Amino acid sequence: MSKPRLWLQLFERQAGQGLGRREQLCASLRAAMRAGELGLDERLPASRVLAADLGLSRVTVEAAYGQLEAEGYLKRAVGRGSFVAVSLARAPQRKQAPAPALGPGLSRRGRRVAEGGGCMDPLRPLPFAAGSPDLRAFPIALWRQLSNKRLRAEPGLLGYGDPQGHEGLRAAIADHLNQSRGLRCRAEQVLVLTSSQQALQLLAGMLLDEGDTLWMEEPGYRGARTAFAAAGAAVLPVPVDEQGLRPDAALPAPRLIYLTPSHQYPCGMALSLPRRLALLALARRENAWIVEDDYDSEFHYEGRPTPALQGLDEHGRVIYLGTFSKALFPSLRLAYMVLPEALVAPLVTARNIHDGHSAQLAQAVTADFIRQGHLAAHLRLMRQLYRQRRERLLQACQQHLAPWLRPQPSAGGLQLAALLPAGEEARWTRAAAALGVLTPSLRALYAGPATQDGWLLGYAALTPDEIIAAVRQLARIRPL
Ligand SMILES: Cc1ncc(COP(=O)(O)O)c(C=O)c1O
Repeated sequence: MSKPRLWLQLFERQAGQGLGRREQLCASLRAAMRAGELGLDERLPASRVLAADLGLSRVTVEAAYGQLEAEGYLKRAVGRGSFVAVSLARAPQRKQAPAPALGPGLSRRGRRVAEGGGCMDPLRPLPFAAGSPDLRAFPIALWRQLSNKRLRAEPGLLGYGDPQGHEGLRAAIADHLNQSRGLRCRAEQVLVLTSSQQALQLLAGMLLDEGDTLWMEEPGYRGARTAFAAAGAAVLPVPVDEQGLRPDAALPAPRLIYLTPSHQYPCGMALSLPRRLALLALARRENAWIVEDDYDSEFHYEGRPTPALQGLDEHGRVIYLGTFSKALFPSLRLAYMVLPEALVAPLVTARNIHDGHSAQLAQAVTADFIRQGHLAAHLRLMRQLYRQRRERLLQACQQHLAPWLRPQPSAGGLQLAALLPAGEEARWTRAAAALGVLTPSLRALYAGPATQDGWLLGYAALTPDEIIAAVRQLARIRPL
């Protein structure tokens, strides 16, 4: 091929990418060097010649050469010309025996973590993704005002903070929980974290040795199961009935029991008082910990939620977990544990080496939001909104999907469990996905063989119209 044609071809290969002419020329010369079409020390045409070959102005070619020289691709000497300064073409690969499959060299714990698969929250609240609050209703202007005020008054909030959490926020959380959830705690027992998931991860590492037995509700929260399993615990699924987790004397005694007592995840019942007392007695007898994950009790629509188990604990066995992911917004990344006195210092140390502390400004603004009564007002509003949405979903299911899909009774939450005929979940999940409707699986929440088929339908983030539209889509696939 004649040289002018070669240059033209190189130049045209980079066309159609929306580049300006100078950038297109630079890209074509870099690509030719990578492909071995321009080798080390090869001389490039004079800018006047190349400009004529490519139909460009000489200024453009000069600018491209100058840029490539600055990037180290070309060297130029006055009176001698421009030369390729690098050898980028990869030497032809000799055939090699495939490398033995060593894997990425993970530890035993690392392999368990990777194989556990993690648990990802929905990035967008598409119908019916579970666990999303309505962010469209969040008072953003007020939040901005509170943030600005804090930033102006306290530039120290830009610095490092206390690993246990902002003092003002810990006090506000303790007061809020004592008043609204029946806890009995002091600010000194509160540890502020980024998420309940971080709490579970820290607890798994600090309270469980490999092989320790842990009782977990079946079906149950995947985020907890994966965190505990990653620590090497022997996670025993303990079935739930209409009174919540059903303790069984035949099971090996636990080192830790994970519970969602106010609103069982995912089935929705509350743990009955006799079971609460029995589990507290068992924890005392066996010196076991109880982790109470109170993830969404702010959203209770019938009467008041049962007070927290922590308030009944006389012997410092209960660790209480709460999160602002649902009450405020998930990207705030603020949650908290209320710890028995004996666990405070070790867990603050663990948190410190884990990630230092939570963002100071966010903590201070959240403290103001609680103290000034905005949290209570926001929750009142959200409860009203979510209650209406739940009603709308129940009505729509009754009208369009009964008796094929059977919503289960639940006094609160951001989502509700609904059962399908046995053995049919996978098929209808695929059919719903083909129509753009997410239907989170109930079967996936079992550690052992699932005894129920169904979905966990998130409704809180959806307007009534969005709920109806998505139910109508499901009505298209329901068998007649
Ligand atoms: C049972 C349970 N615990 C905890 C969480 C999440 O809280 P965080 O966002 O603080 O990790 C969820 C979220 O859906 C949940 O369902």
